Amino acid sequence: MNEARTNVVVRKEQPFDVGAVRSVNLAAFPGEAEANLVDELRANGKATLSLVAVQDERVIGHILFSAVTLDSHTGQNPVLGLAPMAVLPALHRQGVGSLLVTAGLDHCKRAGVGAVVVLGHADYYPRFGFRSASAFGVSCEYDVPDENFMLVELAEGAASDISGVARYQPEFANA
Ligand SMILES: CC(C)(COP(=O)(O)OP(=O)(O)OC[C@H]1O[C@@H](n2cnc3c(N)ncnc32)[C@H](O)[C@@H]1OP(=O)(O)O)[C@@H](O)C(=O)NCCC(=O)NCCS
Repeated sequence: MNEARTNVVVRKEQPFDVGAVRSVNLAAFPGEAEANLVDELRANGKATLSLVAVQDERVIGHILFSAVTLDSHTGQNPVLGLAPMAVLPALHRQGVGSLLVTAGLDHCKRAGVGAVVVLGHADYYPRFGFRSASAFGVSCEYDVPDENFMLVELAEGAASDISGVARYQPEFANA
């Protein structure tokens, strides 16, 4: 475990974090799209779960979960999409992203979320339990390689209640 992970706390985003969350997203991504997406989702009441990683009272990472819809969803447990996630570049590969994902999935599970989908790197997300979503009969609305669209089931049997195309909130189309 690396030094930089010490004293890192993951907590829910608060109103006073908004500027720092935008700064982290601007620093981590090449353009403004993700920072704007986070602001739009929040403003539209669609930031279902927004967590920050804080070290020495400084926001160093952020993760967002928002609702996704499916062609078929017969169960009661909501399905969320993990996106975006960002860590200050100087602190990459020190476990901060992993802390955010783990804490996020834990919050989701306790809130009764059935499953979480993610569009991301196939070497990264399986360590948190994600598997190719196609194995569950779920595909992504975007044309992406099969291995990059993944799903983790958080409530037992929840993945068998869903199938078809998963669609993110409309705000993602502009990102
Ligand atoms: C993705 C991100 C949040 C991970 O944060 P982090 O604190 O570096 O994550 P961790 O330290 O927990 O894990 C790092 C590991 O993930 C791997 N990884 C993460 N995202 C990756 C990617 N897009 N491509 C390749 N490897 C990736 C790293 O190579 C590293 O692997 P290792 O553990 O085998 O060394 C960070 O790299 C980041 O902010 N990237 C820019 C924004 C981004 O691409 N976000 C994800 C899409 S929304």
